[in-house]
Amino acid sequence: MSAIETGAADGRPEVVRTVAELRARVGHWRRSGERVAMVPTMGALHDGHLSLVRIGYERADRVVVSIFVNPTQFGPNEDFKTYPRSEARDLELLELLGTDLVFAPLVGEMYPPDFSTKVVTGGAAVGLETDFRPHFFEGVATVVTKLLNACGPDVAVFGEKDYQQLCVVRQIVRDLGMPVEIVGAPTVREKDGLAMSSRNAYLDPRERSRAPVLHQVLRDVAESARTGGPVERAIDRAQTRLGAVGFGKIDYIEVRDAATLGPPGNGPQRVLAAAWLGRTRLIDNCAV
Ligand code: PAF
Repeated sequence: MSAIETGAADGRPEVVRTVAELRARVGHWRRSGERVAMVPTMGALHDGHLSLVRIGYERADRVVVSIFVNPTQFGPNEDFKTYPRSEARDLELLELLGTDLVFAPLVGEMYPPDFSTKVVTGGAAVGLETDFRPHFFEGVATVVTKLLNACGPDVAVFGEKDYQQLCVVRQIVRDLGMPVEIVGAPTVREKDGLAMSSRNAYLDPRERSRAPVLHQVLRDVAESARTGGPVERAIDRAQTRLGAVGFGKIDYIEVRDAATLGPPGNGPQRVLAAAWLGRTRLIDNCAV
């Protein structure tokens, strides 16, 4: 058997760090008629990520997880340097799910010194996160385009936790005619309702106990929008409650069209929010 057929001998997922190796593995599977799913991540995996891998296996024979803390989606004063990195633990978790392959490139593999192309986004990327992190979607769009091009999966799975990101990825794939199906996966929550996120690790115990209020107020706003109540008043109440439990700056709480993220119309709607708790910026969203 070739190395490609055997993979990692001890059950741990094989890790490749170059696009050439990734293409060789995936090309081999696809030539054998197997469907391939990709789950792009920045590592520091939690149950939310693992649910994406499980969904990958429902949709495909093979799952490739990428682990890459993408520098271009962090602003100059953001947490790129301190973002949690835990590759050994991530591989242990992925082994439990029987993950076929991990693509964990170094920065130079994704962005060689002469790299100079950017994917610029509009549509779903306008407003919300972009108002506060103007660099963010250009970085996400560029790296996701590169990851999907490098892997060439049949399907790619993204969490609804980053709802605007999911809409932007769908838009990129549509606009650029990329031959991949994008699957959105429901947000996985802690027992108290807090959406799982690698950045929850930044919360101290007091902040952690207050963090689920973000989800609670989003549900109240969603309920108000659903029943035709005065949404502005519900958003005011949400802001007051967040302030009362210790949230600082609230970047946004908005109701948008669930597909385009434009102003809400007659179709399905989504409530999206971003707010600071101490030095941690939490984002969450909720269907109306
Ligand atoms: O959601 C994430 O973890 C990242 O934004 C992604 C999609 C892996 C791109 O770096």
